[in-house]
Amino acid sequence: MEVVKSPLEMQNIALNLKKAGKRIGFVPTMGYLHEGHLSLVRRAKQENDVVVVSIFVNPLQFGKNEDLDRYPRDFERDCSLCEREKVDYIFYPSASDMYPEDFKTYVEVKDLPDVLCGKFRPGHFRGVTTVVLKLFNIVQPDNAYFGEKDYQQLKIIQRMVKDLNVPVNVIGCPIVREPDGLAMSSRNKYLSEEERKSAVFISKALFQVKETFERGERDVNKLKDMGINILKQAPLIREIQYFEVVHPESLEPKEIAESSDVVAVAVYIGNTRLIDNIRL
Ligand code: PAF
Repeated sequence: MEVVKSPLEMQNIALNLKKAGKRIGFVPTMGYLHEGHLSLVRRAKQENDVVVVSIFVNPLQFGKNEDLDRYPRDFERDCSLCEREKVDYIFYPSASDMYPEDFKTYVEVKDLPDVLCGKFRPGHFRGVTTVVLKLFNIVQPDNAYFGEKDYQQLKIIQRMVKDLNVPVNVIGCPIVREPDGLAMSSRNKYLSEEERKSAVFISKALFQVKETFERGERDVNKLKDMGINILKQAPLIREIQYFEVVHPESLEPKEIAESSDVVAVAVYIGNTRLIDNIRL
């Protein structure tokens, strides 16, 4: 496994691999890897000749009062996990190499970022699409793998790729959960023992709503009330930012739930913002 820091060097390696006819699988991450990331790496290994993992905590996608400075980092540990999974390259650029002082170009998808997380994190998805397009241009992947936990992110990236004719196949992969249902996230690291207990109510609410839908309930207001009531039982959930049932592609809120709609939730537990979702 090789660690590459320079964007130019990574791009040259990728272009040479492509010339040699290799299929490149790419897993973009912000590091502090967990089983969710590793499931993406394993899928990428199966479907490609070469696997590149990027580790870059992208300052552009963090708001002023968000957790950029305290975002968990452990590069050594990430390296050994990648080594174990037989990753071929880790791309590990610096912020100044990715965004030199004269940087002036941004990528913005319209409408899709106006709902769910985007409503509460202005500029976040512009930061995501900008860095992801840069990473795609540097790593030249055939296939790129994203977790469905960040469902809105996945849909926005798929839209960007389609609208801008980016020759990358963007593949969404299932959420990986802890045995008690909590969706894996690098941010789970922030939770105290007591907060961790409250966090379980997030997936509990989603599972209950899905079960109620499967028993025939289609009224979104009723499904939402049920989910929110479960979240309210968690002593340390201090804010429910949203609990929505949305169309899986347009992300528009629904009134009558249908199969394959997405139930998406964001809450604050202490200073930790957690998101999760489930497909009906
Ligand atoms: O999902 C993430 O970890 C990040 O948003 C991504 C896609 C690596 C872009 O910084």
